[in-house]
Parts: sequence; C-alpha cells; structure tokens
Amino acid sequence: MTDTGSEDQNNVRLQKVLARLGFGSRRACEEMIDRGRVKVNGEVAVLGRRVDPTRDLVEVDRVPVSIEPDLVYYLVNKPAKMLVSAYDPENRPLLLGILPKSPRVFSVGRLDYDTEGLIVFTNDGILANALTHPSHGVEKEYLVQTFRNPSNLALRQLREGVEIEPGVTTAPAKVGRLDACLIKMVICEGRNRQVRRMFDEVGYPVARLARTRIGPITDTSLAPGAWRPLSAEEVRLLSYASYNSPKRARLGF
Ligand code: URA
Repeated sequence: MTDTGSEDQNNVRLQKVLARLGFGSRRACEEMIDRGRVKVNGEVAVLGRRVDPTRDLVEVDRVPVSIEPDLVYYLVNKPAKMLVSAYDPENRPLLLGILPKSPRVFSVGRLDYDTEGLIVFTNDGILANALTHPSHGVEKEYLVQTFRNPSNLALRQLREGVEIEPGVTTAPAKVGRLDACLIKMVICEGRNRQVRRMFDEVGYPVARLARTRIGPITDTSLAPGAWRPLSAEEVRLLSYASYNSPKRARLGF
C-alpha cells in the first residue's frame, strides 16, 4: 500500500515503525498487518494505521514491542571485579562507566561483582520488565568452574532443584559436564546469587562464573570489558524469548 500522507515523529505509518524495529521490509510488515498479526492499543490494526510512538501500545503476535524512539540496547561483556549498580559507596569500578552517558540506561537484571559475562543495558522499560519478570522465565546459560569436580549426584541435584534457602527450591535446570570442574548450566530464574548458592548447597563452591547466553543472545567475540549495541533483530528475538518462554507456555499465557 502506498501512503503519501504527511508524517511527523508522532504520526508514523505502522509498517515503517515495524520495519525500523527489525520485523522485515516495509512490504513484509504490511503483510503482517494485513494478516491481523499486529495490534495497536489492543485492537487489530488495519493497513494505513498510523501510530504515535510516544503513546501507542503495539503488539505483534501478542508480544508487546517497544516503539518509542531513542531506545538503546547495549550488550556488555562484564569482566569480574566490576559492579553492575549505578553507585558504589566503596568506589569500585562501575560497568556504567564504560557505556555512553546519554541516554541513561539501566541493567536488565544483575551479575555479581565477581561474575563475568553477558548483561544487557537499556532504557526500554517494557523489555527490561519482560526479561526480568519471574513469570517470564527467559533462559540464562552459565559456565561454572568449581574447585572440585562435582559428583554425578551433585549434578542430578542441581538438575532437579536445590533448596537454597528455607522454603525456596530452585526450578529444574539443564546441567551438563563440559570437563572436570567445568559445568554448563541453564536456568530460567534469576534469584540473587542463585548459581553460587546452588553449587554451595550441593557441596561444590564456585571458583569462577560466567554468563554465556541470555535467551537467544550470545557473543563469543565480545571481549571482557567491551560492549556493542544489540541489532534490531536481536532486540526482537529477545522480546519474543521473554514472551514465548517455556514457563509462560506452562502457565498458559
Ligand atoms: N548466579 C550467581 O550466583 N551470580 C550471578 O552473578 C548470576 C547468577
């Protein structure tokens, strides 16, 4: 469909917004709209629909997508001995210090001071909320190095769930041995110091911990202390992962 009408930042053709977000060419986005896959403010959108990215709520295949302009998404490879928080009374180095100052971003979840690996910073509250909300359960993959080689029984306990505090048992995890003292673990929860506490509980404290994947996002070429913007496609995949996680499927929404 050709639309020659005037357009300003608050009145943009829906297919243009979707194409900018990585949903495909404008033509492909028109088709998505035509097939009824796109809703604006809860109603199925029709071709020709214009949106105000600062106000309208857009969903594709029932997944909310952030359409505000000026959203940024950074993938950071955190080295050990840097803090994810915005301020530290002890003056330790902050990960925020290596990122652009503007626009202001916040981390999606946390990694401990001693933990390495991938973490996302953004100013997109919708995506951050979807990724961290306990009901969504996006997979996080960790490489865990231990001081002693965990027994098969310990690995089975980690897989089945471990009581890390009274009344709190972790959900089933995927756990595999890569080498002596080197375990790959995938969990969908994000409790405070969860991996370390799980390994403590089964008797094999963690020597080194790195997050290697968040949902579909991984990057082995990103050096420790480096960051890069996520591509539009990666952002789209991340929000899909947060809305189509096994946990949400189990809960039936
Ligand atoms: N689990 C932990 O124990 N620490 C982290 O930083 C992340 C997951």
